[in-house]
Amino acid sequence: MARARAALDSIALNGPRPFVKWVGGKRQIVHELVARVPDAFGTYHEPFVGGGALFFAVRPQNAVLSDNNQRLVRTWRGVRDHVDKVIRLLEKYPYDKDFFLQMRERDIDAESDVEVAAWFIYLNKTAFNGLYRVNSKNRFNVPFGRYVNPAICDEPNLRACAAALKPAAIEHEDFTAVLERAQPGDFVYFDPPYVPLSDTAYFTKYTAEGFGPDDQRRLCDVARKLKKNGVHVLLSNSGADFVRDLYKGFRVEEVLASRQVNCKADGRGPIVELVIR
Ligand SMILES: C[S@@+](CC[C@H](N)C(=O)[O-])C[C@H]1O[C@@H](n2cnc3c(N)ncnc32)[C@H](O)[C@@H]1O
Repeated sequence: MARARAALDSIALNGPRPFVKWVGGKRQIVHELVARVPDAFGTYHEPFVGGGALFFAVRPQNAVLSDNNQRLVRTWRGVRDHVDKVIRLLEKYPYDKDFFLQMRERDIDAESDVEVAAWFIYLNKTAFNGLYRVNSKNRFNVPFGRYVNPAICDEPNLRACAAALKPAAIEHEDFTAVLERAQPGDFVYFDPPYVPLSDTAYFTKYTAEGFGPDDQRRLCDVARKLKKNGVHVLLSNSGADFVRDLYKGFRVEEVLASRQVNCKADGRGPIVELVIR
């Protein structure tokens, strides 16, 4: 745990920290995760990268980061490859409701990675609760958020993130692609959308995020295969019974997290999450 604390202190002091706030962001339990990262490994893989809290804590030399949210992936690439241009755009964007509404309406997928990155980061810093949600036409539809001086352009952190990202590959793909890529001795961290703690409908329909019980089972199979091939695997998920049953035979440990974004309104105290190896 001493190594984990040292990593955390370093993140707090020097960055880089995730440049987007992300539902399920792992900053709350990142010290628990760091403590379970193997001392030595080949390539680091994070197939549900989201805000990438563990990636920025570990700062591996060889990494493949991926996610199935294309705009998020293009944002990561924009920051890695063109951080100056992203910063120049963000510096011009005001915290203003009319401007926010114009940004929401943009046909952003037709634009460059730089424009996508600035658009994504701006909306992430100014939308209600930092949520990312789209309608059936893939239009961002979270309302304007009320903040005091939101840090729309955190230049030092964006530069620190770009530097940490330089050696990383960033892919838009389903998490299963890691099976083809990970070699014995590599390390894979999976942070999937969590199994809800008390949603009975979960077992008959897909969740709003489109990651249902069948996807959780697919993920467990992928993790099993990787382990069998000599890949180091670490997963996080909720403390739901479904998760505990699914990962029988793995090492399952409880950790405490105080969730900020994806919790119920009354659920702001610490809750049990599972880290699985
Ligand atoms: C819980 S979040 C990850 C949080 C991240 N570890 C962090 O610290 O911010 C889950 C991520 O999985 C992505 N995702 C959902 N389904 C996926 C799939 N089938 N394949 C790859 N990524 C997926 C979502 O876009 C989201 O970014």
